[in-house]
Amino acid sequence: MTSPLRTIRSVVRVERFETDRVERRLRRAASVDDLRRLARRRLPGGVFDYIDGGAEDERTLAANQAAFARTGFRPRVLQGIDRVEPAGRILGRPLPYPLVLAPTGFTRIADPDGELAVARAADRAGLPYTLSTLSTRSIEEVREVSEGRLWFQVYAWRDRGLVTEMVERAAAADYEAIVLTVDTAVLGRRERDVRRGFSLPPSIGPATLVDGALHPGWTWSFVRSEPIRFANVVGREIGDGASPVTLADYINTQFDPGLSWDDVDWLRSVWDGPIVIKGIQTVADAVAAGERGVDVLCLSNHGGRQLDGAPATLPLVAPVREAVGDRVEIICDGGVRRGSDIVKAVAAGADAAMAGRAYLYALGAAGERGVDRLLEWFRSDVERTMSLLGVASTADLGRSAIDLPG
Ligand code: GLV
Repeated sequence: MTSPLRTIRSVVRVERFETDRVERRLRRAASVDDLRRLARRRLPGGVFDYIDGGAEDERTLAANQAAFARTGFRPRVLQGIDRVEPAGRILGRPLPYPLVLAPTGFTRIADPDGELAVARAADRAGLPYTLSTLSTRSIEEVREVSEGRLWFQVYAWRDRGLVTEMVERAAAADYEAIVLTVDTAVLGRRERDVRRGFSLPPSIGPATLVDGALHPGWTWSFVRSEPIRFANVVGREIGDGASPVTLADYINTQFDPGLSWDDVDWLRSVWDGPIVIKGIQTVADAVAAGERGVDVLCLSNHGGRQLDGAPATLPLVAPVREAVGDRVEIICDGGVRRGSDIVKAVAAGADAAMAGRAYLYALGAAGERGVDRLLEWFRSDVERTMSLLGVASTADLGRSAIDLPG
């Protein structure tokens, strides 16, 4: 008779105990949803809600993701494809896979390294990283840690001199493109932030003290690291975040709601390189941007954080591609949670997808290594999805690969 011990030994493998806490945490995660759950546990409620939330009823926020969920695939089998090539292209240069990292404000609230962590992870993955104007590490600090492709996002500050100065700094630091965000004439009403009185940096009151005490890991690293500032405008009269300010007050006083197409021409006069317009939400505006000679249209509703009720971005890709042809490159931003979403965006006609929240969840869940892990998942998702779809390269990825609703 076989000894029970022998049978047990044949099936049981003793797992090595993982001594690294971050790695232990990451081992439990397999998806962006898991990273979101981990981030929710680790971050104070106000910080998590600032990242996770959207405007008003959060309908557009939900619609971005729902559009990916509604779009199915049409897999072809027996295609004889033994290797897929996930590489894409943007601004005439190759991408390991078709993704650009979105600009996100105040990234250091998710992790003390903030933008530096994300820029390093993007560099390792070979993907462009867009630094936000409202970043908590400066244009120059980010360039110091990355030899990779960096884009710089600008808003139309009332003080156009400030925009010129920032654009010049980005040029001096060898940033590749300027991304003009055009969906923020005024700030969207983010009701989670209103309810919590969320300010930047977080102001201290009874509720924040309790929140901080309940999240000691975050609080300890927050108090040990240097104060959070709007790093690109440190020391300016307009305010650099040294004293707490709500984002709505800051944006509504500093940014120019009267931004127009003439400002796009103006930007051209101060910046020689490629221009990306981020926040296009209709075919008509996509055509207008194409006529202005912008290099890249970024279809975006600011991750559902601005106008609630604005359309989801994925369904816009195909009509915009039809309207602008191949004259302009298209990026689809909003709702990307998996590599298969990136594949859907490209199949619909985009050159690349853009993701912001996904990497903020990763950063909040596990810091820089979380972002590394996410970008690896995205890459392998894209490859696996293409393989299961029977498509060998992103150039072969067309509308016949997906079922676009409507
Ligand atoms: C900043 O751009 C934000 O959406 O909070």
